[in-house]
Amino acid sequence: MPQTNRQVRLAVRPSGLPRLADWQFTNEAMPAPGPGEFVTKVSHLSIDPAMRGWMNAGASYVPPVDIGAVMRAGGIGRVTASHNDGFAVGDYVYGTFGVQEYAVSDGRGVLKLDLSLAEPTAYLGVLGMTGLTAYFGLLDTGRLKEGDTVVVSGAAGAVGSVAGQIAKIKGCRVIGIAGGQEKCRLVTEEFGLDAAIDYRLPHLRRTLRELAPGGVDVYFDNVGGEILDDVLTCLARGARIAICGAISQYNETQVRGPANYMMLLVAQASMTGFLVFDFASRYPEAMAELAGWYRAGRLVSRETLVTGSVEDFPETLLKLFEGANTGKLILALDG
Ligand SMILES: NC(=O)c1ccc[n+]([C@@H]2O[C@H](COP(=O)([O-])OP(=O)(O)OC[C@H]3O[C@@H](n4cnc5c(N)ncnc54)[C@H](OP(=O)(O)O)[C@@H]3O)[C@@H](O)[C@H]2O)c1
Repeated sequence: MPQTNRQVRLAVRPSGLPRLADWQFTNEAMPAPGPGEFVTKVSHLSIDPAMRGWMNAGASYVPPVDIGAVMRAGGIGRVTASHNDGFAVGDYVYGTFGVQEYAVSDGRGVLKLDLSLAEPTAYLGVLGMTGLTAYFGLLDTGRLKEGDTVVVSGAAGAVGSVAGQIAKIKGCRVIGIAGGQEKCRLVTEEFGLDAAIDYRLPHLRRTLRELAPGGVDVYFDNVGGEILDDVLTCLARGARIAICGAISQYNETQVRGPANYMMLLVAQASMTGFLVFDFASRYPEAMAELAGWYRAGRLVSRETLVTGSVEDFPETLLKLFEGANTGKLILALDG
């Protein structure tokens, strides 16, 4: 029987949380590489909050996924056939391969993984876009400096867990915000932050004031919404807020903006959004530093691995919005 390529395509643009009916499962013939191309058998898919935005129509930092197109996704895998001199059969690679079992590429935007540095899945987490986002958001956009009081939301998630640890490495006092007691335990005991606040409990603002009496110098925001509004009331003079994302808003039909933005004026603070892709020319320097910390045991990598097939993608994506992951959420493709 000829080998096939199972895929997940966007069928309908969702309103609110994506439903199973928003997806279409297809099964095509296994692709063959053309001149200058190679085929990768995808082993692991990166599951990202940004995927929800890519499903919407309208302008963003990347074009929306077209209706009927294979869902966009970062992934890693092994080259199984190649007509490209830069990529040999057996190479482990990272690329935007999409939610499918096999992907054809001409090598643009594809990175060969150095498995002497770390195991392959680390390139979706601490040594991948996740780690790079934390690194540049904190050090460049957040202009972090030693001795700062830093707050990170989504602190037990993929980017947040790395951001909190980098801030500790850089000599800051770091407070993580996460959902639930178990995640808060992880934030202090495993990621080594100084304190953690469970945002599901009442009085976040009061607790933050108690933990940061001198105010917050840097807020690395992954979640937006009410938590952003609370942190805005606790800023130190000259504070920097790095807007990494706003997962609390991604399934809302009406996005809620920060009501307390005038606190930026009061604290002479700034709030700046950033995109990791803007730092692409500096990825090598950041990866070298992240890899150094990782190998020295100073940066802990956490992954939530779901094992299944591409058909498990829709359900796995929802786990992000349910808070079911700690660290990087990855769909490992069996078979
Ligand atoms: N700017 C960039 O270039 C860039 C690049 C990559 C990612 N991002 C953004 O960075 C953020 C984190 O991404 P990630 O990949 O590390 O994902 P992640 O933090 O692992 O995302 C999942 C976590 O978000 C939290 N969450 C879900 N719904 C929430 C809500 N309503 N309120 C508060 N927290 C909620 C949950 O943790 P709890 O259990 O703690 O609620 C969940 O486990 C996202 O906003 C993403 O879009 C930005």
